Amino acid sequence: MSELKGRVALVTGAARGLGAAAAKALADKGAKVVLSDVRDGREAANAVGGAFVKHDVTSEEEWISAVTFAKETFGGLDILVNNAGVFWVKPMAVETLESFRKMQQINVEGVFLGLKHAIPAIAERAHQWDGGGAVVNLSSVAGIVGGPNIIAYNASKGAVRLMTKSAALESASLKVRVNSVHPGIIDTPMMAEAATVLEKVTGQGHNAIRDNFADRHPLKRMGRDIDVANAVAFLASDAAAFVTGSELVVDGGMTAI
Ligand SMILES: NC(=O)c1ccc[n+]([C@@H]2O[C@H](COP(=O)([O-])OP(=O)(O)OC[C@H]3O[C@@H](n4cnc5c(N)ncnc54)[C@H](O)[C@@H]3O)[C@@H](O)[C@H]2O)c1
Repeated sequence: MSELKGRVALVTGAARGLGAAAAKALADKGAKVVLSDVRDGREAANAVGGAFVKHDVTSEEEWISAVTFAKETFGGLDILVNNAGVFWVKPMAVETLESFRKMQQINVEGVFLGLKHAIPAIAERAHQWDGGGAVVNLSSVAGIVGGPNIIAYNASKGAVRLMTKSAALESASLKVRVNSVHPGIIDTPMMAEAATVLEKVTGQGHNAIRDNFADRHPLKRMGRDIDVANAVAFLASDAAAFVTGSELVVDGGMTAI
C-alpha cells in the first residue's frame, strides 16, 4: 500500500507500544517516519526504516529540534502523531498536586507544544495532498467518560479531546486536519505496568486482572496495538480528507454502553 507515499510523519513516544505500532502502520503505507521518545527508540526506528530523535515532549526546545530534524532528514513534515503519554492509577486522596501537574505537563503541555510547533511546518506543503496535512492526538476513553482513581489522567485526556477540536478549527484554513483517537484498554507495555500495580493493590493474579481488562469491552478482549495504529493511519491519510475535529473511539464498544 502506498497511500502515504511522499509524506513525512513524526510520531512521539514511538520507542514502544502504540507509538511504535503507529509508526509501523504509517511506514507500511509508504510514509517516511521520524520516531521520537525520551527512551531509546533506535530499534523501533530501524524496524520501520525510519529515523530516531531523542525528544522529551515537555521541552519546547526539543519540539523545535524534532520538527527541524524531520524537515532536514526527510525534506518536510506532513503528519504528526501526538502519542507520547503517561498513565497511573491514584485515588484523589493520595494523588499529589506535584504528580497531578506532572501528568498534565506530559499529556497536555506535550500535545500543546506539538500542535504549536508542528502545524506551521505541516502547513508549508499541506496543499500538495488531497487530504492536506494531518495531526492525530492520542486521547483515550478516559477523555470521554470518567473513571475512579484516575483523576489526573481523566483531566489530561479530556484536555487532549478539546484541544484537538480547538486546533482543528484554527488549522482548517491551513488545510491541516486535527483529530483525536480514543482507545479502550490496549495491550501495550503501559497496560502491562498498570496490571502489575493492580496485582499488588488488589491481591488478584495477573490473569484475573487481564480477564477483567478484557471483560470491560463488549467485544470481550483487550485492544491490540494494530487496532489503534490502523485508526491513526486512516486519520492521517487522504481517505479521511473531510474528517477534522472528530473523535474516533477504538474501544471494543466500551463507551457505547
Ligand atoms: N495502552 C492503552 O490502553 C491506552 C489507552 C488509551 C490511550 N492510550 C494513550 O496512548 C498513548 C501511548 O500509550 P502506550 O500504551 O503505547 O504507552 P507506553 O507507555 O507503552 O508507551 C508510551 C511511550 O511514551 C514515551 N514517553 C513518556 N513520556 C514521554 C515524554 N515526556 N516525552 C517523550 N516520550 C515520552 C515512553 O517512553 C514510551 O515509549 C498514550 O498517550 C496513552 O495515554 C493508551
